[in-house]
Formats: sequence, structure tokens, C-alpha cells
Amino acid sequence: MRTFTITDESTQTSRIVCRREILQQALAEALRGYRQAFVFSDETVWQLYGRRVGRALGERAVYCMPAGEAHKTPETLFALLAAMAQAGLHRNDCLVCLGGGVVGDVGGLAAALYMRGIDCIQVPTTLLAQVDSSVGGKTAVDFCSIKNLVGVFHQPKYVYIDPVFLSTLPAREVRCGLGEIVKHGALCPEIFDTLEQNRDRLTDWKFLADIVPMNVAFKADVVRADAKEGGLRKCLNLGHTSAHAFELLDGRLSHGEYVLIGTYLEAAISAARGGDREYLARLQQLCLAALGGTLPALPDAEAAARAACLDKKNTGRGRIVLTVPAARGEYRLLELDTQEYARELARIGREGC
Ligand SMILES: NC(=O)c1ccc[n+]([C@@H]2O[C@H](COP(=O)([O-])OP(=O)(O)OC[C@H]3O[C@@H](n4cnc5c(N)ncnc54)[C@H](O)[C@@H]3O)[C@@H](O)[C@H]2O)c1
Ligand SMILES: [Zn+2]
Repeated sequence: MRTFTITDESTQTSRIVCRREILQQALAEALRGYRQAFVFSDETVWQLYGRRVGRALGERAVYCMPAGEAHKTPETLFALLAAMAQAGLHRNDCLVCLGGGVVGDVGGLAAALYMRGIDCIQVPTTLLAQVDSSVGGKTAVDFCSIKNLVGVFHQPKYVYIDPVFLSTLPAREVRCGLGEIVKHGALCPEIFDTLEQNRDRLTDWKFLADIVPMNVAFKADVVRADAKEGGLRKCLNLGHTSAHAFELLDGRLSHGEYVLIGTYLEAAISAARGGDREYLARLQQLCLAALGGTLPALPDAEAAARAACLDKKNTGRGRIVLTVPAARGEYRLLELDTQEYARELARIGREGC
């Protein structure tokens, strides 16, 4: 078992526990401290795990949203809040979010808003939610066609991470989490070495389950140092400016696959500007292995540059800010103008590195 604690400036504390059989033991025990607990999930996860939750936690009020990002909306948020009110949930009660990043983000926001904030327990069931979204207290819904436009920071009281959930994940969702894990590898040498040594097992859920705690420890360290994303936490944007641009233009692959492509491209951009070429080539090989061996066709370079300019991290003056890998465990910020970024993408598309 591995446990981690995060306390942010407002002294909200999160206890993160990684272990097997979490429903039966840790979660059931934590809930004994509450008069009432309300479970929030999505229909897919509930179909797979609802019965097991019922056995572990007994009869609980439950609200299930339809699965998927399309439902990460204010409508779902308010439907959940209405269900919590109808169940008579009180200020000292608790909301349990059982699901992927969508359930975690919507449920976290509902917990932050309900009676000005109640306790929330996150039980992440996707690889992405286990290594990334459940740690750090960011919550949100999409609004006006903009992802995560409305949200707050609200640290969960507990995060319970159980590898057993990974056994039912579809391959696409595995790759989605793998993108963030390779990104962590670009920032943390211990993760990088483990991934390189296990390059032929990158999509094996048992291997991934083994490295979840290492990834949680890394993200918890970053969040602990910078809970409100003032500085260091920006390192987690590595590869994401390009990833978001491709996601906007193309949208056929998962977020994690675009992160792998973005990290590959930004490693090449960094290598051309004084980054450690030997290390960056190894990182690119890791991205390719995680993508299944080949780099998918890139979107049109000019259109990608225009889309990258829209990224909320940018200043809006026609310049693109990238958080790129620089050397082993090191990153740096690069600012390119739109034309320069488009030229780089076109070159990498032609030459492949
Ligand atoms: N808060 C943060 O810091 C943060 C960080 C990264 C991403 N996010 C958000 O996370 C969301 C993406 O999360 P996600 O990738 O987990 O997507 P998701 O929650 O939509 O889950 C993906 C799919 O997997 C299914 N699923 C979940 N657990 C399963 C299991 N154990 N077995 C089989 N199927 C399962 C879900 O029903 C869904 O269909 C995005 O909305 C993104 O904005 C938030
Ligand atoms: Zn991401």
C-alpha cells in the first residue's frame, strides 16, 4: 500500500491511498465517519461495478450520469445537485465519485458547491483518472463549447486508487492514461527508466497498475509544491499545447494519444533549439512505442499553428508558448511565433524527427 498527503494553502487536505480491495476496506471504513454518503458514477462504470459497491457499502443513494465528455455539462452538474438535495444530503455528509475523469470533475465541482462545500471522496476507475485527474483538486464542467470553463479547486478528502478497475478498461482508455504517464516520464527520471525498461509492456494493465503509485507520487509532489498552478504545476502542460491543437482540429484519437504526439513533436522542436538530442530521441522512441509503433498523420501545419495560438496558456499576440522536454527530467518554456511553429510541424511531418 502507498499513501500520500496533499495540503493546499487553504489547508484543505487530501489523503491518497493506492491499494487493492479499496472498496471493501478503506472506503467502507472512511464512510463510517459520515452520517450519509451519496454515490455519483456513470452508467458504464455503474453497470460494471455497481453490484460490488452495493456489497461493500450497503444501501446508498446513487446518481449515475450518462458516460462521456459530452455530458460534462452544467445540466449534469445541476441534475446531480438536485439528486443530492432530494436525498437530504447535509453539510457534514460526503459525496463519493466512482468513475473516470468526467465523473471526478463534475462530482468534485458538485461537492464544492453543495452547501458551500462538502467532503468528497474520489475513487478513480480509469488510468487517466488514477494517475492524473483525481490528484490535485481541479474540478470543472464544459460550458459554451469550452472545455473546463467553469470550475474551482476543491481538494478531495480522500482519493482511493485500486488497480482492479484497470482490468476492464478498453484499449483506447488505456492509451489515454498512458499519454499522461509518458509525460510524467519526461519530467521524472525514475518513471522514464521504468517505462524504457518495459517498453514491450506499455499497454499491459498489470504493468500499468504497478506504476500507478509512482505516477501518483510524482503528481502529488508537483501539486503539493504548487496547488493553485502558479508556477511549477505548469510543467504538467508538457506536450499539451500541440496536443490540444490537434485534438481541436482532428478529434479522432484519445486525449492521451494527442499528448503522445504532442510530446514527440515538442521533443523534436526542443532538440532543434539546443535540447539534449540523445535523450530527446529516446523520449521520442517511447512516445512511438506507446502509440503502437507509428506516428499518425499530422494535421495541416498552418491550421495546427492557428489552433495552437488559441490555447488558453498563450498571450494572444500570435505567439505560442510550449512546455517542452529539454533533457533528462528537465523541461523549459519556449515561445515561438505562429509561422515558426507551422514551419517546425511541416519539417517534422516531412523528415519524421
Ligand atoms: N481535474 C484534472 O486535473 C483533470 C486532469 C486531466 C483530465 N481531466 C478531465 O478528465 C476527463 C477525461 O477523463 P477519462 O479519460 O477518465 O474519461 P471518462 O471519465 O469519460 O472515462 C472514459 C470512459 O471509460 C469508462 N470507464 C471508466 N472506468 C472504467 C472501467 N474501470 N472499466 C471500463 N470502462 C470504464 C467511462 O464510462 C467512459 O466511457 C476530461 O473531461 C478531462 O478534462 C481532469
Ligand atoms: Zn492531459
